[in-house]
Amino acid sequence: MTIATAPGKIILLGEHAVVYGRPAIAAPVWQTVATATITDQPTGAGCIIVVRDLDQTLNLRTAAPDQPLALVTRLALAELGIDCIPDWRIDLHSTIPIASGLGSGAALSTALVRALFAHAGGPTDADTVSHIVFASERIYHGTPSGIDNTVIAHGVPIWFVKGQQPEPFTPPERFLLAIADSGIRSPTKETVGDVRRGWQANPSRYEAWFDQIAALVLASRHAIETSNLPRLGTLMDENQAILQRLGVSAAPLERMITAARAAGALGAKLSGGGRGGNVIALVNDDTRAAVAQALLSAGALRVIMTANCPDNR
Ligand code: PMV
Repeated sequence: MTIATAPGKIILLGEHAVVYGRPAIAAPVWQTVATATITDQPTGAGCIIVVRDLDQTLNLRTAAPDQPLALVTRLALAELGIDCIPDWRIDLHSTIPIASGLGSGAALSTALVRALFAHAGGPTDADTVSHIVFASERIYHGTPSGIDNTVIAHGVPIWFVKGQQPEPFTPPERFLLAIADSGIRSPTKETVGDVRRGWQANPSRYEAWFDQIAALVLASRHAIETSNLPRLGTLMDENQAILQRLGVSAAPLERMITAARAAGALGAKLSGGGRGGNVIALVNDDTRAAVAQALLSAGALRVIMTANCPDNR
């Protein structure tokens, strides 16, 4: 039996603009994970993928070409040089909320690819895994930047620019984030599509917003490197203001963000595609409990607190 896992993720700053070539910073969230388990089956059983959380069972022989999990399985088997269907049962399970900006789809695919490689004794490098998972992201998201598969496959915080090698990015000092799930599911494909329509209708306005976000992301890297957390909080707030103008925020998210700031968060913003999903708030040991409580009172279904160490493990 082989077991592999992959973390959820947050985008600290830079979502949406990252689709248009601007930088973004993302980090894994190991407090919530996807797990893939492979067990050998009797000869002739075929390859079955069981997704417990979605109540879905796929047969690799008959699954549609654009079924994301079947697609990454086929690509991984091709990478491994396996050209017949193996007799494996693959069980997938995830604690990452779906369509919530935590990268649930990419995490499930990443755990799956890692398990396939480990079971067959194939490559384990993050770039190969990320490349294969990107194919499923295309199906889920339409025009993904690639940030989700990259940060999840690498499993460390990254500085990401579309089409470039990601830079692993380890903050010199711990910083704590409260990650609050609004409980509102919002497919990234829709918000990314709406931003694209806005950009097509008014390219100069959107390009200016994307440039402003890029400047905030750059400044936030400096703030992290110099452990200036109050500055990082302010930059997160400014990023949120532009995300609002882009039309990807929503009243329930704004309520949670306002409550977190009022309870002492240094900054707060939505994370990921927006309209629903998760809000992140920058906290410290003194404010974490009050901010978590404020987020729950403002409507959050649950709050995850990141770990107290630089790489968030
Ligand atoms: O998967 P999500 O909801 O975390 O969104 C990914 C971030 C976007 O910038 C909105 C889209 C992308 O492909 O980068």
